[in-house]
Amino acid sequence: METKNIGLRGIEVADTRISDIDGEKGKLIYRGYDILDLAKKSNYEETAYLLLHDQLPSKEQLAEFKFRLNEARLIPKRMQINMGNWRKDADPMDMLQAFVAALAGYYDEEFSTKEASYEKAINLIAKVPTIISSWHRIREGLEALDPDPNLDHAANFLYMMFGEKPDVEVEKIFDTCLILHADHSFNASTFVARQVASTRAHMYSAVSAAIGALSGELHGGANTEVMKMLLEIGTIDNVVPWIKEKMSKGERIMGMGHAVYKTFDPRAEILKELSRKLAARTGDPWYDITERIETATISEMKTRKGKEIYPNVDLYSASIYHMLKIPMDLNTPIFAISRVAGWAAHIIEEKFAEAAPKPALYRPNAVYVGKYCGPEGCEYKTLDLRK
Ligand code: ACO
Repeated sequence: METKNIGLRGIEVADTRISDIDGEKGKLIYRGYDILDLAKKSNYEETAYLLLHDQLPSKEQLAEFKFRLNEARLIPKRMQINMGNWRKDADPMDMLQAFVAALAGYYDEEFSTKEASYEKAINLIAKVPTIISSWHRIREGLEALDPDPNLDHAANFLYMMFGEKPDVEVEKIFDTCLILHADHSFNASTFVARQVASTRAHMYSAVSAAIGALSGELHGGANTEVMKMLLEIGTIDNVVPWIKEKMSKGERIMGMGHAVYKTFDPRAEILKELSRKLAARTGDPWYDITERIETATISEMKTRKGKEIYPNVDLYSASIYHMLKIPMDLNTPIFAISRVAGWAAHIIEEKFAEAAPKPALYRPNAVYVGKYCGPEGCEYKTLDLRK
């Protein structure tokens, strides 16, 4: 017997009201709203509220949500002291995963109710950027900066990183990146979060597991790999030979291809435009090089395999973060700054869904292909009789 559902592709495992992808048409909706509309008109706080509460906030609700985020942004000083004990070259995703799990130990709180889960969601959305910026400054030998209560979410992170308030255009670009990464249905890390939540483990535990899943290069880690590729390629003339060589060896081009989209990822479309805009401002070559990678990969894929391939969310986000002077190894943690809203919404849905069919503990089957010695099982030999 062969395993049929490798990677669970195409298998429906639960109902969700949070987001939906049309992979054929290249559409993504959050709670019914088109991502292209949200990217143009909304902001991250409003989008996070929408994901958590199934509706856009009123003025009062948004003000209250922002107030609660502001109240929750600071992280314990003891946590920052502890960060000083880590190796300076530790992977920031390992640090983030560890300190998110540790939040459960810093707060003696209720975990089991839906209301408590919303509080944890706010705590996480608020604190993940502070954990990352604190870590970055501490590893650089700088003092961690407290959040500025006058700044919104996107601007606050950039301020805590660099000690300067970003200008309006930079703030809007970064805020749009956060909107675009906030949710994506049952992607690998969200599925992990839901799977952990299905055991009734708490929000911090489920989110820290999701961070582990996001760190891999086939998922969120791809944006760091894209930036490494851009730096290695270096010049526009080098793109085509580089891509041809990699693909001739059967290697994958990071930032290209998607398990669900069979056309342009709508997030990549917006990010491409943002990257172009930033490059025009900074004079960097990274947009042009990325665009050439896109066309060269599409063309090579067609020639080699007769297949189509398109950019995913990670292709153009890498150059954007680089032009915003964000260190390469923080690309994936930034993904987590945004995605934590989606994870939290899914964890709450997984644990507290009211409509049938309600989610159940995930427990798939496997096809056993290991040793078989007959119906009685293999003979157990004591240690002295084994060779
Ligand atoms: N470069 C070169 N070839 C590719 C790429 C790529 N980026 N992506 C897919 N292919 C090829 C595969 O080699 C395979 O060829 P084959 O049929 O001859 O074996 C074919 O396309 C299908 O590949 P699968 O891995 O089965 O396709 P799937 O749709 O499941 O892949 C995935 C999705 C894993 C994202 C893949 O496209 C990939 O590895 N991309 C690079 C990593 C990346 O950018 N990940 C980020 C995804 S977005 C996110 O997680 C936020």
